[in-house]
Amino acid sequence: MKTKKFNNKQIIIRSLSQKDLKQAKKLQTFINALIKENVQIKINKKKSLKEELNWLKEHLEKIKKRKAVFLVAEHNNEIVGSTGINLQRGKKEHVGEFGIGIHKDYRRIGLGGCLMSEIINLAKKQLKPRPKIIRLSVFITNKSAISLYKKMGFKIVAKIPKQFNHKGKLIDEIIMIKEL
Ligand SMILES: CC(C)(COP(=O)(O)OP(=O)(O)OC[C@H]1O[C@@H](n2cnc3c(N)ncnc32)[C@H](O)[C@@H]1OP(=O)(O)O)[C@@H](O)C(=O)NCCC(=O)NCCS
Repeated sequence: MKTKKFNNKQIIIRSLSQKDLKQAKKLQTFINALIKENVQIKINKKKSLKEELNWLKEHLEKIKKRKAVFLVAEHNNEIVGSTGINLQRGKKEHVGEFGIGIHKDYRRIGLGGCLMSEIINLAKKQLKPRPKIIRLSVFITNKSAISLYKKMGFKIVAKIPKQFNHKGKLIDEIIMIKEL
């Protein structure tokens, strides 16, 4: 667990743990706020508490088996950001799939960049096997995310047309990778 100051806000950055099973509502509230805002992420349906609990159980199991790492950022006892890397399976086991989301009131203060560096470092230390490539998928229209990923050393390697149906429009998907 770490505490860091962003724009005068003391934010806790910690790994997901068993104790989150008892406070699944906090994670549910955070995810559902992003979905309500209709940000450019794949999920489009709000999560029920049961779904959130199931996701948490599965994810904690993956973390225990060293196949995933996940960090949350907390402020005033609320989750304000999250990020994770999941190892792929079989012949793709050397590839870690990355994801991130920051609550709208906590953007542009350096939290996303910080969480990204932290999760990549954690993945290098904890995942078995150690990932050789971090891969992510992003809407071509998500300029802020693409800018952050480029800054973190990710390169665009593919564009797949019309993969996301967002607000009634078909948006191209961009695949970016970073070799570790
Ligand atoms: C994309 C996202 C994770 C960025 O997080 P953040 O905490 O705001 O990012 P930071 O404050 O660390 O900014 C780091 C860099 O990202 C880029 N960036 C972030 N927001 C930006 C914006 N609104 N416009 C342009 N660039 C932006 C910039 O390069 C920035 O560096 P700078 O501040 O030196 O210009 C955040 O906007 C978010 O969660 N959005 C909604 C969910 C989402 O899109 N997730 C990604 C799905 S692939």
